[in-house]
Amino acid sequence: MKQFLEGNACVLGLQWGDEGKGKIVDFLGESAQLVVRYCGGANAGHSVSIGGRKLSTHLLPVGVFRPGILNIIGNGVVLDPEVLFREIDTLAAAGIAITPDNLKVSYKTHVVMPWHKQEDAARETAAGAGGIGTTKRGIGPCYADKMHRSTAIRVADLANEEKLRERINHIATERNKLFAALYNAPPLDPKPIFEQYRDFGRRLAPFVADTTAILLAAIKSGKRILYEGAHAVLLDVDHGTYPYVTSSNCSALGLFTGAGVPPRSVQQFIGIMKAYSTRVGGGPFPSEQNNDTGNYIRERGHEYGTTTGRPRRCGWLDTVAVKYSVDLCGVTAVTMTLLDVLTGLDQLRICTGYKQKNGQLLDGFRADMDALADVEPVYETLPGWQADISACRRFEDLPPQAQAYVKRVEQLIGCPIRIVSVGPDRAATLMR
Ligand code: GDP
Ligand code: IMO
Ligand code: MG
Repeated sequence: MKQFLEGNACVLGLQWGDEGKGKIVDFLGESAQLVVRYCGGANAGHSVSIGGRKLSTHLLPVGVFRPGILNIIGNGVVLDPEVLFREIDTLAAAGIAITPDNLKVSYKTHVVMPWHKQEDAARETAAGAGGIGTTKRGIGPCYADKMHRSTAIRVADLANEEKLRERINHIATERNKLFAALYNAPPLDPKPIFEQYRDFGRRLAPFVADTTAILLAAIKSGKRILYEGAHAVLLDVDHGTYPYVTSSNCSALGLFTGAGVPPRSVQQFIGIMKAYSTRVGGGPFPSEQNNDTGNYIRERGHEYGTTTGRPRRCGWLDTVAVKYSVDLCGVTAVTMTLLDVLTGLDQLRICTGYKQKNGQLLDGFRADMDALADVEPVYETLPGWQADISACRRFEDLPPQAQAYVKRVEQLIGCPIRIVSVGPDRAATLMR
């Protein structure tokens, strides 16, 4: 496994999230010294399973589960201190210590404030069925304020208490007027918000650092860095199925701005794909199976959100979509996860193209909801397998149908599948 990581690597989702990035970052973390989050916030939910114990993080990089790893929350993340400290306290109770020795937070990271969560929830409620289906974690409004600039608060701003008090007063007063007019929302009281965020700032202070300087020094000294992508390419605000996306550049393309490192300092891009497709929230999903097959996958794969508990929409693997992600991000190797979930299905279908209403075949993926709205998936059918594969530890031990499935997908996406995962545990990971 040590040979697998050559230089610094980014692990990223190739579909609509929840591909098992947490499991793979944890697995590859054995040969890394730093693990870095560069995008998104508490809308992510990354699970690992260590010795049968399931642990999840939303904001902390999953490197916290391996002693000796320095974990970094980069400038491209939007940080909700309430969630961060809850996560730190929960892990402390489980015997995992998070200290300034194993966690650093960029002073440039933007802070999720109570009005961001209020706005996210109010907008979704007001939109009704036309909403995006966000996680209501305040992610979009926080990134919007980052772009507005004059109404944003960064981690560094928490340290200047007098200025923070004024800023919170100013922004809360403005938001209260706006939200009363738009959503008839009750006003937020700036005083307790200031006190709470002042205290968060004091607790956060020992973790705050110039994380780019730390990363540049690590690169120079040849330490191995693993970048932990959150969300996925098809949820990227520029390259995903807009507007049904999240608000960050969560493909590999956002790594360099979100972590603050030079593009040539990353050598490997490891794309993670499920053996099928899922998506949470609204948006186009051509190969969705709103039927017994979808239900079978949901129950066997426990496809319920790590962050919100919502049932995930399930469907057949879409290699048109995955190939788009592989090509866009220059993916160097792919991991296929959750192959064990497909056990027991007589036949497996793979979406290899989209037929438009006019009968013509679309020549590739379109990150546009109107283009994908009415397409009819074109499927290839492969035989399934019945034997439980979750105890397999070598690729060659898989039933021939499972091996053939992996090899066919590899051809369709044009990238080698170097790791296959057949269970949540670290050991259930087959290297090819
Ligand atoms: P992430 O957001 O990409 O990190 O993925 P999540 O953690 O949200 O969801 C993936 C789920 O699948 C988690 O509960 C993992 O423990 C689980 N998982 C990961 N790989 C496998 C696998 O190969 N087989 C099975 N059965 N479960 C897996
Ligand atoms: P991980 O890292 C799955 C989806 C939400 C919603 C849309 C916008 O665990 O793979 P947001 O709250 O970000 O404004 O919601 O994006 N979404 C995810 N879906 N996994 C995730 O992260 C997601 N992060 C955001 O469900 O449809
Ligand atoms: Mg997840």
